Amino acid sequence: MQSFQRHRRLRRNPMIRSMVQEHHLGVHDLIYPVFVVEGSNQKNLIPSMPGIFQFSIDRLGEEMEEVVNAGIPSIMVFGVPHDKDEKGSQADHDHGIVQKAIRYIKENFPSLYVIADTCLCQYTSHGHCGLVREGEIENDSSLERLVQTAVSQARAGADMIAPSNMMDGFVYVIRKGLDKAGFDQIPILSYAVKYASSFYGPFRDAAHSAPQFGDRRTYQMNPANAREALREATSDVAEGADLLMVKPGLAYLDVIYRVRERFDLPVVAYNVSGEYSMVKSAAQNGWINEKEVVLETLIGFKRAGADLILTYHAKDVAKWLQS
Ligand code: PBG
Repeated sequence: MQSFQRHRRLRRNPMIRSMVQEHHLGVHDLIYPVFVVEGSNQKNLIPSMPGIFQFSIDRLGEEMEEVVNAGIPSIMVFGVPHDKDEKGSQADHDHGIVQKAIRYIKENFPSLYVIADTCLCQYTSHGHCGLVREGEIENDSSLERLVQTAVSQARAGADMIAPSNMMDGFVYVIRKGLDKAGFDQIPILSYAVKYASSFYGPFRDAAHSAPQFGDRRTYQMNPANAREALREATSDVAEGADLLMVKPGLAYLDVIYRVRERFDLPVVAYNVSGEYSMVKSAAQNGWINEKEVVLETLIGFKRAGADLILTYHAKDVAKWLQS
């Protein structure tokens, strides 16, 4: 037996390093989140997310062109409505902001695969993801609103529905609702494993969706739990989910790995707003190399077992991968 192993043989030059590379990141792995606001001629900078904007529909074309030209296959659309109320009435309105945006995108950029985030928090005056009664976020009455929202998004042309609200049974009822409305071919990407995370802070600036009282800990998961993530995913698979999301990404790579090991469904990692903003601010200070840090992060998601990555870095990554 040799005295020790020479691992460095397989790292000696770029040729052999790329030949034995285990995981790869491609532009086809990316999903880009997009924020759409009401009004006209709006392209609003989100201060806590440098490089990310809210667009009104008349300005959305420029952004969608960039996405298509970069070769990014898919976007996730978030609507930021003007009017909010207790029930989130705008969420399932056929002429609500997200429905109008989806219709516009599918008409003008038919090659883009459009995923709709299905939640109420941007639409409710209290900012919670479900209906509130006596200070409690009600489960079953919220489900009805979510089904109506998902169906209206599908009717507007969404290619995929992504419920993110963490009410129990949401995949079950949305699947039934979509089927009944004739959308049995529309897949559900379940935010199956979603933690109550402080990494969502900048998103809440972008989507105006911060809860007005309390927090989301009665429906989103405790960051200390991993086995519970498998229970969540197990029920969503049984209820008919087509893909599983783990969110946030970076602090939860072990959860991505466990979900990948346990289930055969495609797994999606959400590289959330706070993760993005931390990298951007350090890069702007010249403290890290943005390109290298982002590519290292995303290959980490792939290595952990993610098939797809939702990331605000998608446009930059697409450009870096091309060059
Ligand atoms: C809506 C929703 C949130 C995010 C995606 N969908 C916010 C939340 O749950 O508070 C966060 C995404 C991000 O931080 O990038 N429920």
